[in-house]
Amino acid sequence: MPHFLSVRDVPDLPQFLAEARAVKQTPFAWSHLGRHKTLGLIFMNPSLRTRLSTQRAAQNLGLNCMVLNTDKDSWKMATGEGVVMNGDAAEHIKDAVAVMGQYCEILGVRSFPMLVNREEDYAENTLHDFVRYAGVPIVSLESATRHPLQSAADLITIEQYKTKPRPKVVLTWAPHPRALPQAVPNSFAEWMLAAGLDLTIAHPEGYELDTQFTAGATLTHDQDAAFRGADFIYAKNWSSYHDEYGHILSRDKNWMITPAKMQLTNNAKFMHCLPVRRNVVVADAVLDGPNSIIIPQAANRVVAAQVVLKRLLEQI
Ligand code: CP
Repeated sequence: MPHFLSVRDVPDLPQFLAEARAVKQTPFAWSHLGRHKTLGLIFMNPSLRTRLSTQRAAQNLGLNCMVLNTDKDSWKMATGEGVVMNGDAAEHIKDAVAVMGQYCEILGVRSFPMLVNREEDYAENTLHDFVRYAGVPIVSLESATRHPLQSAADLITIEQYKTKPRPKVVLTWAPHPRALPQAVPNSFAEWMLAAGLDLTIAHPEGYELDTQFTAGATLTHDQDAAFRGADFIYAKNWSSYHDEYGHILSRDKNWMITPAKMQLTNNAKFMHCLPVRRNVVVADAVLDGPNSIIIPQAANRVVAAQVVLKRLLEQI
C-alpha cells in the first residue's frame, strides 16, 4: 500500500518537481481523480497551514474532505498492546483508526512528539499505528520526527527561486521561548540532501540533530560563517536531541536572524515554515523585507499536498 511518510516515499524527486510545476499551472486538471472519494484529516495537535492547504489540495482534486481534531472533538485514545482501559481513555487507537479507514480512501494524521522520551518519540508509534490499522494510504501531516509535506513545499519553493543549479542552502537554529520538536529540521535536511543541494546546518553547541537526517550536510556552530555565500536562509528553532532530550539549551539572542546577518549572504532568500515568533526568531525587517519568501513558501503547501494526494489517488 502506498503511503507518504518521508522522502523515501518519493524516489523520483525530479519527476515530483515536474508534477508540482504542472499542478501549479493547471490545478484543476486532475479534478476527476477524487470523485466519490474521501480524505480524512486527523489532527492530534493544532494546525493552520497543514490543515487548510491539504483541504484546498483535496478540493482541487475533487476529493471530499473530513477533519477531526482528536484533542478536542473525539474520545481519548489508549495505545499499546494489552492495556487495561480503566482510566481516561474510552477507546483504543487500533479500533479508532480501523473505523476511520472504513470512512475514507486516504487518511492524514498529525501527531507531535512528547519531547520527554527520545526512544518513544523516534519509534513513531502513533504514525505506525495508523499505517498498521487503517487499511488505506496514510499521509503524514507532521509526525514526531518528520514533516514531509512541509519539506516538499520547501523544495518546490527553492526550485522556484533558485538562480543556479546547486544553490547554497543554510538551515539555521534560532532562539525560541518554548521547546520545539526536531521534525521540521530533520525533514528539511533529508529532503535537501536527497535533492542533491549544498546544505549547511548552523546551530549552537548541543543542538546536533540525529545523523540519520544530516549525513552529507556541512555542520557548524558559526552562524556568520554559514551565512557567507548562502543563497537561501531557512530559520527554525528545535530542542536538543542528544543530551537532555527535548530541552532548551540556549536562549542566545545573537542567533536571531537580522538584516545585518542577511547582509553576509549572497542576497539570500529568507524562508521559515511558520508560525514564526517575530523579533525572537527573526527580525520584522527580514520577514517583511524584499527577500522574504515565506508567503509563496506557504502557498506551495497546497501544491505539495496536491502532488502527494494526486499520486496516491492514481495508485488506489
Ligand atoms: N508549517 C506548518 O506545518 O504550519 P501549521 O502547524 O500551522 O500546520
